[in-house]
Amino acid sequence: MFSLFKSKPLLKDFVQDGFVDIHSHALCGIDDGAKTISDTKNILDAMSNLGFTEAITTPHTIFMVWENTKEDILSKHEEVRSLLPLETERLNLRVASEYLIDDSFLKRIESEELLTLNNKHVLVEMSYINPPIQLMEILFVLKSNGYDIVLAHPERYNFYHDNKEMYKKLKKAGCLFQINLLSTTGYYGKHVLDAANYLLSNGMIDFAGSDIHHQKHIDAFQNKVLIKDVNSLQQAIKNNIQFKQ
Ligand SMILES: [Fe+2]
Repeated sequence: MFSLFKSKPLLKDFVQDGFVDIHSHALCGIDDGAKTISDTKNILDAMSNLGFTEAITTPHTIFMVWENTKEDILSKHEEVRSLLPLETERLNLRVASEYLIDDSFLKRIESEELLTLNNKHVLVEMSYINPPIQLMEILFVLKSNGYDIVLAHPERYNFYHDNKEMYKKLKKAGCLFQINLLSTTGYYGKHVLDAANYLLSNGMIDFAGSDIHHQKHIDAFQNKVLIKDVNSLQQAIKNNIQFKQ
């Protein structure tokens, strides 16, 4: 349908009925996303208005920074559901977590059940500064424990931009890749847009996520999509259907 557009389509035009978002920070006060319940309401309303019909929101779990437990996240979800019954129902809001891969995560995998997107897909991220030293070992342990790995925003890890072989290694190690929608507009800069182009045009992106934290992210859905391979982006968005409840 986007071949009909004379100019570049806007990001909001890609959010169509039935889009299940799998990455956002809408629960208030437990990470760097929504701070207050009114921020949460704003994000949920905006997502529904944009056209998302379901959302699995994914607070960070980061050792020494956002030390959320599974119970903390589930109880915050319950609290938000009781305070915002209409908004959470309209978006069929569910919860998982976005886990930072580091040494402490290895211990966590072995000591507790992770909060997953569905029964086995776990959303993970890396530091933006350095890749984790034990990365391949941690991926192996995740797979051995029966998890399917969804790596958040691979296009945002600058240390891979000049080392694209690593993307292939990560795919071989069993990672599914989730692109951030905003990356396709140049929101995070040209290097990230270039990496998004590379990953999409090489068929390496499996899913898409909003990674909405705040109003600026919502506003950026009005921006133009600058990606070359629009079909691959649309396919990634379609693939999110497997997380439909
Ligand atoms: Fe995130």
